[in-house]
Amino acid sequence: MLNAARRDSGHAELMDGVYRYQRHIYDFTRKYYLFGRDSLIDAMALEPGSRAVEVGCGTARNLIRMARRYPDARLFGLDASQAMLETAAGAIAKSGLEGRIGLSHGYAEALSPQSFGLSEPFDDIIFSYSLSMIPDWKQALKAAQAALSPTGRIHIVDFGDLADLPAPARKALLKWLALFHVSPRMELLGSLEQSSEKYKRFQLLTGRYAFSMSALGDAFSDPCEAVAQRSQGPEKSGLGAV
Ligand SMILES: C[S@@+](CC[C@H](N)C(=O)[O-])C[C@H]1O[C@@H](n2cnc3c(N)ncnc32)[C@H](O)[C@@H]1O
Repeated sequence: MLNAARRDSGHAELMDGVYRYQRHIYDFTRKYYLFGRDSLIDAMALEPGSRAVEVGCGTARNLIRMARRYPDARLFGLDASQAMLETAAGAIAKSGLEGRIGLSHGYAEALSPQSFGLSEPFDDIIFSYSLSMIPDWKQALKAAQAALSPTGRIHIVDFGDLADLPAPARKALLKWLALFHVSPRMELLGSLEQSSEKYKRFQLLTGRYAFSMSALGDAFSDPCEAVAQRSQGPEKSGLGAV
């Protein structure tokens, strides 16, 4: 259920408009440019019985991979686009994973375990190429923190600032991404980099095309500054190269 605060923003309708037709070719086309998703999923090392949610889950491509990789984890997906969720539900059913993955229509900025009928917090929250589309990404990180258990982790993979790409390529790529309402969160990346030595799993892709990281939730006490209060995440996972 979309929360009242954002219901009137029209963002859900905007996302439906972006994905109404794109969703049918989404998984096939995005594998050529949404890099780093699988290595982040592999590095998440979800504990048996843990609760993990993907914020902006799209077609459930990642959730299905997570369900197969972590057969004892409980998985949830939130998305603002009803159209994307229809495709996600179809893909989950086709994979025979209906009992493993719960879906909810809602905004990242108001993420809550209650959206899935849960009374306990999440153990892991993943944002895969969604923060760059979520209008109030700082609020989304705050909501994620509030929805996490005290030892819970946030995992992010998203576009970088593309700063090391040739200038014409960077300009063209940013223009093209903007057509899909994608804005690389350069402020977040810059802030994370300032503390990157504290994020053991912070990785940048060639050309600064994308970044990925995992951290304890309270590392994001101020998402804007992204100051790492703890110098390391849980020992159990390590991000592979993106
Ligand atoms: C680029 S897609 C990424 C999909 C998937 N995470 C992946 O890695 O393939 C971004 C998704 O975020 C969703 N989204 C955008 N803004 C959102 C918001 N405010 N709250 C929840 N979902 C949102 C879009 O509807 C879309 O499905």
